[in-house]
Amino acid sequence: MMKRLILTFIFCVITVLGHAQTKIDPKTIAAKMQWFQDAKLGIFIHAGIYSVNGIDESWSFHNKKISYADYMKQLNGFTLKHYDPTFWAELIKESGARYAVITTKHHDGVAMYDTKKDKLSIVKATPAKMDMIKPFFDELRKRDIKCGAYFSLIDWSHPDYPGFLKDSSRYNVKDDDARWNRFRDFFQGQIKEIGEKFNPDLWWFDGDWEHSAEEWESEKVRRIILTKNPAAIINGRLQGYGDYTTPEQNFPVSRPPYNWWELCMTTNDNWGYQQHDQNWKTPYEIISIFVDAVANGGNLLLDIGPKEDGTIPPEEINILKELGAWNKKNGEAIFNTVAGIPQGHFYGPTTLSKDSTTLYLFVHGKTSGQLMLKGLDNKIKDISVVGTGTKLNHKVVGKISWSPVPGLVYINLPEGVQDKYITVLKLKLDKPIKLYRGQGGL
Ligand code: GLC
Repeated sequence: MMKRLILTFIFCVITVLGHAQTKIDPKTIAAKMQWFQDAKLGIFIHAGIYSVNGIDESWSFHNKKISYADYMKQLNGFTLKHYDPTFWAELIKESGARYAVITTKHHDGVAMYDTKKDKLSIVKATPAKMDMIKPFFDELRKRDIKCGAYFSLIDWSHPDYPGFLKDSSRYNVKDDDARWNRFRDFFQGQIKEIGEKFNPDLWWFDGDWEHSAEEWESEKVRRIILTKNPAAIINGRLQGYGDYTTPEQNFPVSRPPYNWWELCMTTNDNWGYQQHDQNWKTPYEIISIFVDAVANGGNLLLDIGPKEDGTIPPEEINILKELGAWNKKNGEAIFNTVAGIPQGHFYGPTTLSKDSTTLYLFVHGKTSGQLMLKGLDNKIKDISVVGTGTKLNHKVVGKISWSPVPGLVYINLPEGVQDKYITVLKLKLDKPIKLYRGQGGL
């Protein structure tokens, strides 16, 4: 009897501890999210066999634009013959990004590393014959850049995965438990493998929409990851078991209500390399989207799609370099800052230092003349242009001595001090920022 009681007690303790580990405790999460929140910029890399023909990653066969057999023929053309992870990591460093996320396996099921769970990998099934993740992560880590692993839960190639081509499925999970269990063991095995081999700082899941949290065993997946590395960050595509939200391609207009979010976005219109797609976003467009994300409390995960030989298209190199030059000059207003003041005070994005005694204003285009700031209930100690240090004058207009409404601040921005893309003004305040958000004098 006593023995049974002791055993039950031990079992309960283990269960509780197990749950405690997966429970999303806000304080622990906030601490582990700190580097992510400060990082602001990540580079997303969609590397895969789809770059051989230059067609949609995985979706092209799923949507029947190409037969599965023809899609898989691309395996023969994936060479990585000019793959230079040192150059990749250098370029990412130069862009100012503080983390990178690379596809370890997309929905097509082709592992970009040496998986022991399957034959379908670039190591076993392509002329590249190499794991591309480890050398890349090594180079990133040398430069203090955090390493993220994109992993698709969906695996349309696996014979035990229910989904395959659009409008059809191999079987229904509810009808064949054993088969679904086999797939679950397989994908969870790959997750363990990736954890062991590369120990990612961040996991970027994708494709969770095809099954429920119960079916994926999301809680268990989270536990597998955190047991190996309690500091690992998990994106939001795990049916409710992730740490942050990932709006895709479309920019939010009002400020998203989340603690942590990351906009993932392509540099042209596609995630992977597609030679016909020349619809590149300009450096100015990328920088303004980046600034807007940061001003609204988010990160930008900017995607590049390398070619099958491992080279990065020149347009993407150019975008990363221009972004990097801008960050080098203006980064103090971006990295380690927090979201700016609410919309309505200034006609443009803003950020704040963590102690909120410095306000940064982002000025688009070739704007010069007087810029207005409303509702600032602080004294401004000093205004300068970030990167050049040029001092600017300001005046306070319409302050009524007996009214609690602050006067309007007009900053004089002369011609000739503008940045090529976006100019940043730094306002040093007398104390932490205080805003007046009322209706004005009544
Ligand atoms: C979508 C697509 C996928 C792409 C991903 C990146 O979920 O399914 O092809 O890799 O977005 O965010």
